[in-house]
This record gives sequence, structure tokens and C-alpha cells, in this order.
Amino acid sequence: MCEPRHFRVDYAINPWMDPTRPVDAAKAVAQWTALKQTYERLGHRVDLITPHPALPDMVFAANAATVIDGIVLGARFRAPQRAPEADLYRTWFLTHGYRTVVMPTHTNEAEGDFTWTGDLLLAGTGFRTDPGAHAEAQEVLGVPVVSLHLVDPRYYHLDVALFVLTEATPTTRATIAYYPAAFSPGARRLLRRLYPDAVIATEEDATCLALNAVSDGHNVILPTEATHLAAELLARGYEPHFADISELRKSGGGPKCCTMELRG
Ligand code: ARG
Repeated sequence: MCEPRHFRVDYAINPWMDPTRPVDAAKAVAQWTALKQTYERLGHRVDLITPHPALPDMVFAANAATVIDGIVLGARFRAPQRAPEADLYRTWFLTHGYRTVVMPTHTNEAEGDFTWTGDLLLAGTGFRTDPGAHAEAQEVLGVPVVSLHLVDPRYYHLDVALFVLTEATPTTRATIAYYPAAFSPGARRLLRRLYPDAVIATEEDATCLALNAVSDGHNVILPTEATHLAAELLARGYEPHFADISELRKSGGGPKCCTMELRG
């Protein structure tokens, strides 16, 4: 995670961002700190990277690398405003014991568009990550990649339209939740075929960034407003935990965007 000490919205690269609307960086830090404490209370270790004053979106750690089995595939941001983040995160990995750190040649916004399900890497495209990055991820990470086309600019990253509740095991498929309207017709058919038991989110869920959630297979951390989705998850045996992300949402981000998962 990366503390939003320098959090601002001074450019607009997604429809949530309005540089004329005030943001409160101190409040963003307080909300982010509460999210970090929630992870720690639930027994998860949180590593930190030092924020850079010139990079207000650096708080969105999920966009900066994809790590599976200790192999790190770095990022290549679409927007020039965010491009320098990629190298800062790369340096973090190299100074924290990671030996395989590969930087992509295609535009790749990491876990913003790559979701590991335990057996497949679901990969979004349409707004940020290039389709060429999907093949590159498959080659670098050595996992099967399934491309999904995103069609609604409000859901510009896969991680604001879909998340994994429970990872796949050798004998079971993953359990996911997603918002169908964010996907092309073919992607919707594909998701229905792969995940017939998925939790289907409503528009009300999607518009508070409820799909930008983080699950450890039991505990699910989601935005405070996501009461509808939370009730559904509770009924399926998950334990919802709420995070107030009202400031970070002004930049189009929620709990998952602030969280890069280090697998292995
Ligand atoms: N303002 C950031 C951007 O548009 C938000 C990124 C949110 N991160 C995410 N994983 N969806 O790039």
C-alpha cells in the first residue's frame, strides 16, 4: 500500500475525476489508514512504499504490478501523468528481495485490469490495458489468461467491475462477483459460462465502487455504501467489512485500487 499523503485530483483520466471538486488529503489519509488497519486486524501483513509528491495517484498500488508465485510483472501506464509510478514500484520489488521483475512492453495497468482467480488470470481491456499485454502476462507469469472487454467508461478497469470472493482450488472453480453491464456481450457470455454461480452485482452496487473489493476467501472489505452487495455476501457466508473511501472515490478508486496483492 502507499499512503495518500500527496493525494490530489489535478487531472482527469477517468469519469470519476473532477479537478474542480475539492479533495481533502488529510481525510484520504485517515480513510486509507483505517483500511490498512482493517487488513492488519484481520491478520494480513501490509508492506508500504514511500509516496512521491509529484504522483497523486500513487496511492492506487494495485495498478503498479501483478505478482503471482513471486514473479513480478510491472506496469506501463496509459496516462503520462502516472507513467513514473511504474519505476518506483519496480525499485521497491528489487530492494525487497524479488528476483524476477519483468517490465512490460505493452500498456498494462496491472491488477487494475488483471484479476487472479487461483487458476486463471482474468484480463480487462477496452480503456487502459492493451490486449497485447494479455499475451505478455501469460508468457511472463506462465498462467492462462482470459481476455474480457470492458465497455462502460465509468468501469474503466476490470477491478471496478469484478472481484474474486474465493479463489479456485484444484477441484473447484473460483467464486466471483461482477457487474454484467460493464462488459461486452461476448465477455458477459463467457463469464456466465465460466462462473454460473457468480454473485451478480446491481447498478446500485457498481456505482459506489462495491466491486472494488478485497476478499481473503472469508472477509470481504468493501466501500461503506455497498450495503446491498454486503447483504448478498452475508447470505453466502462471507463476512463483510466496510471501508469509507469517499475521498479516494473522487479519483475513481476504492479498497482494491489501494491494495496490491503480493502472491508468493
Ligand atoms: N485515478 C486513478 C486512475 O484513473 C484511479 C485508479 C484506480 N485504480 C484501480 N485499480 N482501479 O488511474
